Amino acid sequence: MTEPSLYDQILDFANRAHPWPLYEKLRSQPVWQEADGTFVVSTYREIYALMHDPRLSSDLTNLLPQFADVMPHDDGPRSFIVTDPPRHDVLRRLAMRQFGPPHQPDRIDKLTPRLTEIVTKLIDKISDNQEVDLVDEVAYPFPVAVICHLLGVPPEDEPKFSAWVDPIVNALTRPTPEQVQARNDARQHMIDYMSELAQRRRTEPGDDMISGYVTDDSPDGRLEDGDLLATLMLLLIAGHETTVNLITNGWLTLQRHPEVLQRLRTEPHFAIRLVEELLRYEPSVHILPFRTAVSDIELGDATIRKGHPIAVMLASGNRDPECIPHADRFDPDRADNIHLSFAGGVHYCFGAPLARLEAQIALTQLAKRLRNPRLVADPPPYRPSPVLRGPIHLQIAYDSVDPA
Ligand code: HEM
Repeated sequence: MTEPSLYDQILDFANRAHPWPLYEKLRSQPVWQEADGTFVVSTYREIYALMHDPRLSSDLTNLLPQFADVMPHDDGPRSFIVTDPPRHDVLRRLAMRQFGPPHQPDRIDKLTPRLTEIVTKLIDKISDNQEVDLVDEVAYPFPVAVICHLLGVPPEDEPKFSAWVDPIVNALTRPTPEQVQARNDARQHMIDYMSELAQRRRTEPGDDMISGYVTDDSPDGRLEDGDLLATLMLLLIAGHETTVNLITNGWLTLQRHPEVLQRLRTEPHFAIRLVEELLRYEPSVHILPFRTAVSDIELGDATIRKGHPIAVMLASGNRDPECIPHADRFDPDRADNIHLSFAGGVHYCFGAPLARLEAQIALTQLAKRLRNPRLVADPPPYRPSPVLRGPIHLQIAYDSVDPA
């Protein structure tokens, strides 16, 4: 038996609660090649350079055939997250047209009262308890309600689509053949579901993003067929999975830093810089697992070979002391927060303004209303994925809940 590599150990569920010492060791070789041919990039400068390098590809059809098992992809419709320019840019522009500037400059800001109302109701619902799972009661239902509202997905369909999301997320790194099959089946169910929903919105359009996509013509035309369905699937999944982790990791970190939690209760606008530091210190996305290179890329002291898989270790970059002073210190007052948590380059997170707003509102409301909150278990149990990392449950106890 060969020793597990550092990358193997990071993927190993046993290290999910505390991967940081492994990242530190990994950074001693900024560009490391695994035995299976994967290049693992872990230092801030190299990650930043790579994410802005046009030779980096998100299109897995550019992988050499011998890596088909390392990063298996299916033949179904592919969204712009796994597409390269120029096609990526057209699809992203079409998707953004219903979400943000320049076509919808205030769609997200205008949501603030509604977001506050949703969180208020969720916290009201736990006011008779003194112990709850914060994931089940707030961190999950809140972003789900928001993305359903924005897209025009009926919220009562949540049990249906939540069953499809886990197999998709669990197949992001080194999936077994069974996991690949489960992912492909789940994707097909979701594509069928989105197709039916898009058809309904064509005949009965509303004020939601899906209605916009199926009725509105843009200079680039319309999102059609597979492009439409893959985009809807991407937005539904990306629009809540990661934000659940930001809120849960965020609350966990606040409980571990009571002086910071106290500031959130009293200091106006503190939530803005707090959420930036939470994104850096406990990011929701630890790894960009599906990248390759369209030609050789010289990076650091290494050469990433054309067609090889690349894993970009965002969470490690966020803790790189070469670029981030006192990187292991949780410090919401740091002057320049240059975290990598929303990635960079052409695939920079599309939903960042929404994710930030949701986390700011949820964490502030929780801080203001829960009396004497405390963790029941630390560390909490984690979800299986090393890519989208966060607690599966966060059991908390409190004395009472103040009125909103
Ligand atoms: C804390 C919350 C979030 C985090 C940490 C996060 C992180 C990321 C990261 C790291 C990427 C780059 C992926 C890659 O390059 O392969 C990304 C892309 C993306 N995110 Fe987010 N995300 C969050 C919330 C959201 C939300 C709320 C939405 C939708 C409303 C969203 C939609 C997207 C989309 C569509 C892309 C693909 C962009 C492209 O390929 O051009 N994300 N996100």
